[in-house]
Amino acid sequence: MANGSAQSAMTLRRDTWWVAPLITAVVLGSFGIYSTWRAFSNADFLYEPYLSPFYSPYILASWWPFSPALLILWAPLGFRATCYYYRKAYYRSFFLAPPACAVRPLAKEGSYTGESKLPFILQNIHRYFFYAATVILFFLWVDAFKALKFEDGFGVGVGTLVLFANAALLSLYSLSCHSFRHLIGGNLDVFSKCPTRFRLWGKASALNEHHMLWAWVSLFGVALADLYIFLLARGVITDVRLI
Ligand code: FES
Repeated sequence: MANGSAQSAMTLRRDTWWVAPLITAVVLGSFGIYSTWRAFSNADFLYEPYLSPFYSPYILASWWPFSPALLILWAPLGFRATCYYYRKAYYRSFFLAPPACAVRPLAKEGSYTGESKLPFILQNIHRYFFYAATVILFFLWVDAFKALKFEDGFGVGVGTLVLFANAALLSLYSLSCHSFRHLIGGNLDVFSKCPTRFRLWGKASALNEHHMLWAWVSLFGVALADLYIFLLARGVITDVRLI
């Protein structure tokens, strides 16, 4: 290829580089549509003793005329939207900026402003979303334990396991967060003076290596947990009581 056409080509890559951003766009887009519909629907989110994670904690306020999910979902949504991994994922798959390594971005050259101007400067408050999402996560664990309490006393249903799995996967996602890793290991000159923090930092770092995996698995987990309770509430499926 002549030098001029090489410079003007979108990419010289011959592999299927477009598959990953395409799959990401489809999956993230589908999750966005599903979760928006569920958040606004304000229905079929409770099937005793199970509460959908999209509505937890359930806040029933007389001054709020809209779906209660909207009062809380900003926290996990902001947490995911500002996540270091998801930023890479949606910058590539939705903004095509760039869609992959060694592929020309869609935007004009020189238009890139990084994350130093509005709205993307807001990505820098990721750690505050981490704090807010941790509060929500606490309530998801509370809901999982509440799912052990049936009308006739203690019990375990498939829904109980679903809610515990959801809380566990979201915890792995949060504990592998880059901000959390910095929170426990940052602002230290020497680790030898804080062996406990060093140990915790080591564990967080091990989880952090798989942050992308936890990001995806927990995304599917929370959507499936909501779907399970939705289907129960609609009478489409029946819960199986294990204990
Ligand atoms: S970096 Fe992904 S959740 Fe913090």
